[in-house]
Amino acid sequence: MRPALRFHLDGAPVEVTDLHPTTTLLRWLRATGRTGTKEGCGEGDCGACTVVVVDPAHPERGPRAVNSCLVLLPQVADLQLFTVEGLAQGATLHPAQQAMVDALGSQCGYCTPGFVMSLVEACHRPDLRQAAPDDWRLDDQLCGNLCRCTGYRPIRDALARVAGTSPDDAVATSLSAPPASPRGSLDYQGDGGRFVAPDRLEDAIALLAEHPDARVVSGATDLGLDVTRRHRRFPLLLSVARIDELDGLDEAGDALRIGAATSLSTLEAATATALPLLHRMLRYFGSRQIKHRGTVGGNLCNASPIGDLAPVLLALDARVELASVRGRRRLPLSEFFLGYRQTAVAPDELLVAVHLRRPPPDARRGAYKVSRRRELDISAVSAAFVVHEIDGAVAHARLAFGGVAATPVRAIDAEQALLGGSLDADLDAALAALSAQVRPIDDDRGSAWFRRTLAANLLRGFVAETASVPFAPLAPGHSATVAAGSQPSGASR
Ligand SMILES: Cc1cc2nc3c(=O)[nH]c(=O)nc-3n(C[C@H](O)[C@H](O)[C@H](O)COP(=O)(O)OP(=O)(O)OC[C@H]3O[C@@H](n4cnc5c(N)ncnc54)[C@H](O)[C@@H]3O)c2cc1C
Ligand code: FES
Ligand code: FES
Repeated sequence: MRPALRFHLDGAPVEVTDLHPTTTLLRWLRATGRTGTKEGCGEGDCGACTVVVVDPAHPERGPRAVNSCLVLLPQVADLQLFTVEGLAQGATLHPAQQAMVDALGSQCGYCTPGFVMSLVEACHRPDLRQAAPDDWRLDDQLCGNLCRCTGYRPIRDALARVAGTSPDDAVATSLSAPPASPRGSLDYQGDGGRFVAPDRLEDAIALLAEHPDARVVSGATDLGLDVTRRHRRFPLLLSVARIDELDGLDEAGDALRIGAATSLSTLEAATATALPLLHRMLRYFGSRQIKHRGTVGGNLCNASPIGDLAPVLLALDARVELASVRGRRRLPLSEFFLGYRQTAVAPDELLVAVHLRRPPPDARRGAYKVSRRRELDISAVSAAFVVHEIDGAVAHARLAFGGVAATPVRAIDAEQALLGGSLDADLDAALAALSAQVRPIDDDRGSAWFRRTLAANLLRGFVAETASVPFAPLAPGHSATVAAGSQPSGASR
């Protein structure tokens, strides 16, 4: 049992004891007088609370901007944490701060610390060196930060000045240190709560067998909302973040294995060439801060009907691997979602990995997300399709949707309507079957009629888009998203 949480804050070692494990990093920072980091929404939507973390065991992953409002304090144990207050050297501003001043990127200043921290991450992204002014990755870098008064053009100018410049700052010092040994396990108790982060799967499932009421946590971008919105204090949290077997993507020929605790930004980078269909959806998933913390396993186990990974993984015929002390089992993802926010994961089980095969190169495939705004918004409807025609006849069809039923679904009747026929000639039959199967609900993101119509139009659009080119990977500036309106959604996820 480790009684204290230890990490480095702006270069100095820190030890925290006696705090409940659901204390958020933001709350702790501000309660200890570090009020430079701001709170806007407390829900991961505004970026005012952005800080940067470096994992000394994985300096090759670079610094990561994260929303401190959704990070639980034990999740930063053993990490290097950087805040806006540690950037300036005496009277000399950090280049990210100076760029904001020079580009006139701040007015009231409330959002500024968060933007500056996103710029600090960008400073250390070698891939952004010499990014063209209209490079979509600059928008992506900032899409998790909101500003209500300055306007984004000057802030984007500031970003363009510093992106990829690798300044010689404290972040660079932490990145250049030799990789530390793995973090090991963590068992922290404070204020009546316990946070256990084993580094071996066997230990995690043994703990779950003993305490099936423990709440599993991965990146906490969903679970954190229970804490900040619903004021939950979980007595026992089991983190899967330190288990190597759950982290990363492995390729063997056409087969891919994605560890459940793989962060979405790691997955996004790895799938650019390995699996462009998934990469395309991840471009429009949350923000960079959310993707640095959110994981594949968390997205599937959260089982939201509008979760964005499920439709793509359903279209790819993914299988999930579950583990408990009773053994391991695999099941098709199509059998994983049992009902609204219900999954086949037993109380003593963990999701370990997702397994899938790349579709044949000549298969027609597409992934689409419709949301009220293009960046950092959740779907009204999302869809992913993989259709393989051999000699002009459909031999394999997977049509998957989110937002049209209580769970993410495959449109099995529509798939059947296509088999043996032609995607183009039999589209009407597939659309009729789709319309009969989907059961969308009315809510503030869209009426049932709107969603039903969208589902049909996405399938029509897919057929048109892939009529001559089987698949167009995401090109810079290309949109895989259809903006459905202009009002940001404040509804729950
Ligand atoms: C601002 C914001 C924007 C977002 N945008 C999107 C978006 O565009 N699209 C989208 O789909 N989602 C979005 N989300 C939701 C969320 O980020 C994702 O669902 C993310 O993938 C969750 O992963 P996590 O690791 O943070 O999950 P956590 O919050 O850690 O866990 C989520 C649930 O899964 C369970 N769980 C986690 N891992 C395991 C495991 N290995 N085995 C068993 N159970 C497990 C937990 O107990 C919990 O119930 C957004 C969230 C926020 C706050
Ligand atoms: S306070 Fe808004 S994202 Fe954290
Ligand atoms: S400067 Fe006021 S919110 Fe951005």
